[in-house]
Amino acid sequence: FAGWTFAYEGKAKRLYRSPEGDRYLVRFKDDATAFNGKKRGQIESKGIVNSRISSLLFRLLEEHGVETHLLEEVGPGQMLVRAVEIIPLEVVVRNLTTGSLSRRLGLPEGRPIDPPLVEFYYKSDALDDPLVYPEHAGLLGAAREEEVVRLRELALQVNGVLQAFFQQLRIVLVDFKLEFGRADGRILLADELSPDTCRFWEAGTGRKLDKDRFRQDLGQVEEAYQEMLRRVEAGATGR
Ligand code: C5P
Repeated sequence: FAGWTFAYEGKAKRLYRSPEGDRYLVRFKDDATAFNGKKRGQIESKGIVNSRISSLLFRLLEEHGVETHLLEEVGPGQMLVRAVEIIPLEVVVRNLTTGSLSRRLGLPEGRPIDPPLVEFYYKSDALDDPLVYPEHAGLLGAAREEEVVRLRELALQVNGVLQAFFQQLRIVLVDFKLEFGRADGRILLADELSPDTCRFWEAGTGRKLDKDRFRQDLGQVEEAYQEMLRRVEAGATGR
């Protein structure tokens, strides 16, 4: 990657731009943050695990017709991706009540949500990523009305593919967050899909296998990430 230049450092990743500006090398970090950076720590091998899980899930989604920014995996903890213009909205899909939804609306944990709920949050550290109406996206200059319609459609399509995949791994896909980007007039799935950005509950036991173990100090955080990697790899290779 000679000639590639450092471009951006986020909470969980470092990005390097190709000389042509058409691609990025994403290096996943072991740094973990929660509550918008108010809680910090490290999760051993998280970068490698999240990069691998994201790559496998992006490839699965591509096979089901969802375009993503993934070009190829380039070694442990690294992904080569297409340059996109990130749409500053976090698109959250929920299949079960928990997290901020339960807190905000006083709903008990683990109640099925059918049909699934799609929520939009405006990406802004200064504002703490506020929940917004789809209609606010235009006002914020974040996305056009027809783009918001498309984001919702894509988010539900991703949910369908992932729900089927995780069900066979005996994992309940509780909720997750997506980010999208524009490239050549199309909308591509970007960022990552990992235990950092999804909630995974083991079927039957309800054991949490995601970042909630870090957020809530439940212990065995590394083990949970490794367990998800093991299952996703098994599912992706058809075992
Ligand atoms: O906290 P909340 O219940 O709103 O999170 C919903 C889903 O979105 C969870 O899977 C969480 O991991 C993910 N999320 C995220 N990044 C954020 C906020 C939420 O990945 N900034």
